[in-house]
Amino acid sequence: MLSIILPTYNESENITKYIPILHSLFSKVNLKFEILIVDDNSPDKTWKIAEDLSKQYNSVRSFNRIGDKGLSSAVLFGIHQAKYETICVLDADMQHDESIVPKMLEEMKNHDLVIGSRKVVGGEYGEMPFYRQVMSKVADRIANLIIPIPAKDSMSGFFMIRKKLILDNLEKLNPKGFKILLEILCRIPNLKIKEIGYSFRQRVHGKTKLSSMVIIEYFTSLLEIRFNISITATFIKYSFVGIMGVFVNLLFQFLSSMILEDNAIVNYENQFFKPSLAVIVGFEVSLLSNFFLNHFWTFNKTLNSLVPSLLKFHLISILGFLIQISVWAFLFSAWLHYLDSYNGLATYVSNFIGIITAFVSNFYLNKNVTWK
Ligand code: GDD
Ligand code: MN
Repeated sequence: MLSIILPTYNESENITKYIPILHSLFSKVNLKFEILIVDDNSPDKTWKIAEDLSKQYNSVRSFNRIGDKGLSSAVLFGIHQAKYETICVLDADMQHDESIVPKMLEEMKNHDLVIGSRKVVGGEYGEMPFYRQVMSKVADRIANLIIPIPAKDSMSGFFMIRKKLILDNLEKLNPKGFKILLEILCRIPNLKIKEIGYSFRQRVHGKTKLSSMVIIEYFTSLLEIRFNISITATFIKYSFVGIMGVFVNLLFQFLSSMILEDNAIVNYENQFFKPSLAVIVGFEVSLLSNFFLNHFWTFNKTLNSLVPSLLKFHLISILGFLIQISVWAFLFSAWLHYLDSYNGLATYVSNFIGIITAFVSNFYLNKNVTWK
């Protein structure tokens, strides 16, 4: 007994051809089965065709979700609706090889998860463009550096699993984007996994929905799983502003160093004086640029709360600044001491390390106090 889930988005031409193929294939293998088409209100009216198909074939059930969107959540939706205990998730665009389904089903007898895989013996990318194959391999390497993944084709959209296992672990899974299998692999411990090779076919009708956003989501998800955090848009914007701020900081440290260097008025013997002044200037300029970007962009606030926020931001940043300048002073003096000569680079490298140390502590303070 098998519930086959076909998530669809703009696949009207594909399902028209695919459903008859699937229906006759599974009718032949003497198997109780159902095919669930889960559409997200596709503009090309896939849901309408699915509805017609469900009238034509008693094995087909069709669902149209309005409001909800996304491949992973469509898969979870399908699993909730499934009549049978064993679930097979299959792309609706005919790129997966349905002929290995009986073999996969056989393996389900002693595994928790069976994956249709392009990365084991018998598996291949077929005519997938070379650049996408390379990208996929590079992504795989990086992914495994972040977190060891217990399967080779962790991005596959073709797999079999038991309904109960998903329902029991529902609160662990984050159904964002395409990466439902990755979530299952990394968040449900001690799975018995089997991968079966198949050759990925070329898409004939319609277009892929795999965007660069999907790839970004895949990697943020790996980091979320690895560090047990939740990476929000706010966090990403804040980090971006912070990284820009590092450059602004170092740039203004550099510029003010240049100006101070041949300034006769500011002329103290102490070799710390000018460099530390430059550190302070770099800090203040970057503080202001960070503040305005975060206020209006990251946290989307208005002019109303500008002054109080600016004051709080300064107040909170004092701590970060003290961290930064202490780290700078410590490293800078150590450098001067051990290398026994003034070295221009020393002050910038030391400051950079100081900034990074302060950055991390600042994020948490600002998030919880300034823009709470
Ligand atoms: N309901 C629903 N909602 N279905 C969706 C959505 C959505 O938002 N986005 C995509 N789908 C459906 C497509 O209609 C298709 O049936 C299937 O999900 C896979 O989407 P494709 O757009 O065809 O993805 P792909 O072929 O480029 O990507 C393949 O490789 C990926 C990474 O290696 C697939 O095998 C993916 O499953 C896989 O993650
Ligand atoms: Mn596809």
